[in-house]
Amino acid sequence: MNKGKEYEINIEETEFPGIGIGYYNDHRVKVKGALPGQKLRVRITKRRKEDIEGKIIEILEEVDYKVSAKCPHFGVCGGCSHAFLTYEKQLEFKATQVLSLFEEAAIEDFEFLGIEGSPEEYEYRNKMEFTFGDFEKGGELTLGMHIKNRSFGIVTVDNCQLVDKDFRIILTTVLNYLKDKELPYYRVVSHEGYLRNLVVRKSKNTDEILINLVTTSQLNFDFVELTDLLMKLSFEGKLTSILHTTNDGLADMVQGDKVDILFGRDYIEEDLLGLKFIIRPFSFFQTNSRGAEKLYSIVRDFIGETSSKVVFDLYCGTGTIGQIVAPKAKSVLGIEIIPEAVVAANENAAFNGLTNCRFIAGDIAKVIVDVKDKPDIIILDPPRPGVHPVALDYVLKFNAPEIIYVSCNPKTLVKDLKVILENGYVIDKVKIMDMFAHTPHVETVVRLQRKQM
Ligand SMILES: C[S@@+](CC[C@H](N)C(=O)[O-])C[C@H]1O[C@@H](n2cnc3c(N)ncnc32)[C@H](O)[C@@H]1O
Repeated sequence: MNKGKEYEINIEETEFPGIGIGYYNDHRVKVKGALPGQKLRVRITKRRKEDIEGKIIEILEEVDYKVSAKCPHFGVCGGCSHAFLTYEKQLEFKATQVLSLFEEAAIEDFEFLGIEGSPEEYEYRNKMEFTFGDFEKGGELTLGMHIKNRSFGIVTVDNCQLVDKDFRIILTTVLNYLKDKELPYYRVVSHEGYLRNLVVRKSKNTDEILINLVTTSQLNFDFVELTDLLMKLSFEGKLTSILHTTNDGLADMVQGDKVDILFGRDYIEEDLLGLKFIIRPFSFFQTNSRGAEKLYSIVRDFIGETSSKVVFDLYCGTGTIGQIVAPKAKSVLGIEIIPEAVVAANENAAFNGLTNCRFIAGDIAKVIVDVKDKPDIIILDPPRPGVHPVALDYVLKFNAPEIIYVSCNPKTLVKDLKVILENGYVIDKVKIMDMFAHTPHVETVVRLQRKQM
């Protein structure tokens, strides 16, 4: 098969994250967004030895399980790629994809407890990071998501179905107001411009809303008028915070050099499984609150009776998992790299009356060296790249009887599991939890036990 040439291919399998797999003679071809059962004309876009990728040029035979997406931005917005499938089909594919990765890695002999869907199929997100830009170069100001398959360009997503009406009202109000002000949006390549992001957070169980306008320091705009405008809007939830964050960082991500409170306070509160959590502007918090309650319940069930056990909550964010298991544990030690999240975790634990929790800030690979406690259970919930090899080495040295691995990336999960299995553990149970309907992402929870000697 040659790069640039076109071939007819039948798609036979699905691979994480949402890749269709077809075969041409003996060649295995990966096609993004292709579905098992489709016959496609595909152009080869990459050929490196046996790693072959193609792009859909024409659908020659369509599958009968496709539906029309509910979202009007589908196809242009790079946010949801699976909205053309029924939710049942999305779940079926996600389970197949995760299990195939286990099979390819020869990880077997465990109890598979299936996949659970998000309690809400739409409007489930409690946070959205919208970006300022334009749709076409030099066009009017837009605010929303990156355009699908394009390096530049932002589509305004004023009808996004992953968030509720309050998010949509805020986006429209902010965009309409700022369009008239002719402020330049920030360009990631030249690092010039002012408007960067609008971040909206809304707690699902307490209905508190936080609005965070993120700009560079290249101009000095007065947000008083916009703040007044936002405060006069009527929301289904309660507006508790309006912030202005200055971010001169070069990375295309939302972070803050300085946060000014324009109204209210710099956090919202969320209730999960009977506990309260303070969420600050830059702390990690699961983006699907009701899904998180299900995910954390799975972890709690996997842990079982913990009354006399020392639990480590590694990559703990705002300490959610640790605090949910704390009432039944002897003690909980959490480690997290974002200091703001650790402050919130300790604050939350005090607020929830939990006296047996301690959260410390730092990179796990470094901080863990000084930890003297001996864990009975280690919970790992790393970001997408998985557990750093140095950190994993230390984790294994604790020789804990149980490890619970919560993963948002099944590819790095199986890589880390192989190392853990080679070091004297067996997998007991696996359950998949979908927190991200209409996207290819999924959470997997694995319970491992140290082999009896
Ligand atoms: C998937 S989140 C899990 C957070 C938490 N368990 C929860 O459910 O809300 C991963 C967390 O790991 C943190 N993190 C990333 N790299 C880290 C490192 N090297 N050391 C410690 N924490 C890290 C991130 O800031 C983030 O809060």
